[in-house]
Amino acid sequence: MTVIAIRELAKQFGDQVVLSGINLDLAQGDVKVLMGSSGSGKSTLLRCLNRLVEPTSGSIQFQSKEILGPNVDVRQLRKQIGFVFQQFALYSHLTVLENVTLALRKLEGIGLKQANEKALHELAQFDMVPHQSKYPSQLSGGQKQRVAIARALAMDPAVLLLDEPTSALDPVMSRDVGELINRLHHNGITMICVTHDLGLASTISDRVLFLDKGIIRADERLDVLASNHSDPELQAFFGKRE
Ligand SMILES: Nc1ncnc2c1ncn2[C@@H]1O[C@H](COP(=O)(O)OP(=O)(O)OP(=O)(O)O)[C@@H](O)[C@H]1O
Ligand SMILES: [Mg+2]
Repeated sequence: MTVIAIRELAKQFGDQVVLSGINLDLAQGDVKVLMGSSGSGKSTLLRCLNRLVEPTSGSIQFQSKEILGPNVDVRQLRKQIGFVFQQFALYSHLTVLENVTLALRKLEGIGLKQANEKALHELAQFDMVPHQSKYPSQLSGGQKQRVAIARALAMDPAVLLLDEPTSALDPVMSRDVGELINRLHHNGITMICVTHDLGLASTISDRVLFLDKGIIRADERLDVLASNHSDPELQAFFGKRE
């Protein structure tokens, strides 16, 4: 089943064309890795998918319904399409448990006891229950990212968007997050993960979408991309990293 269908998506900021002619389909359970140089439009593309950025033109269907346009319940959409940011975006004045329950209580209107139960269930998956009363400043980067992912999953989203989830982490913690993403994949969650990390990319998917100046230039196996020396853009991005 197609979960997300993007057609001829374009975004301009003023005169600057940031995305153009984006066509992409995600089936239920797909994991897509999105790579491309800085400024190529990766975050903008993810942000269009839950309306953090308004596209200039084109169409995005989520579960066969158009999500662009004025008559869409954006709050509802954001419950179904979760977002994990590079810098975790946890509330520093709230504990781990409160960070995870906040959206459940505010967006879903769930009572405290039930929200706590749900949050602890998610935190348990990531071995974070012992840290439930800590504040974000008392956690390592990897632990913060696990809380951020637990928080997104507490809403039971159909799709999870991850924007460079490991860029603030050391290699060991990055591997941790890679394994976690694989576990979510196993559970059937549809994901798009933006990353510069070739290790993470190869851990979670054997194919990579390569975005170049706002255009999807390739949807290819990582080893094929990395060995394509005839395309200067691909060579510039992957060549030096072999
Ligand atoms: N809100 C905004 N207003 C104006 N320009 C923007 C805005 N957001 C992004 N841009 C521009 O759009 C282009 C693409 O930005 P985007 O953040 O999508 O790139 P990216 O591929 O995620 O880069 P990075 O790898 O550095 O995160 C950049 O030139 C950026 O300056
Ligand atoms: Mg970005």
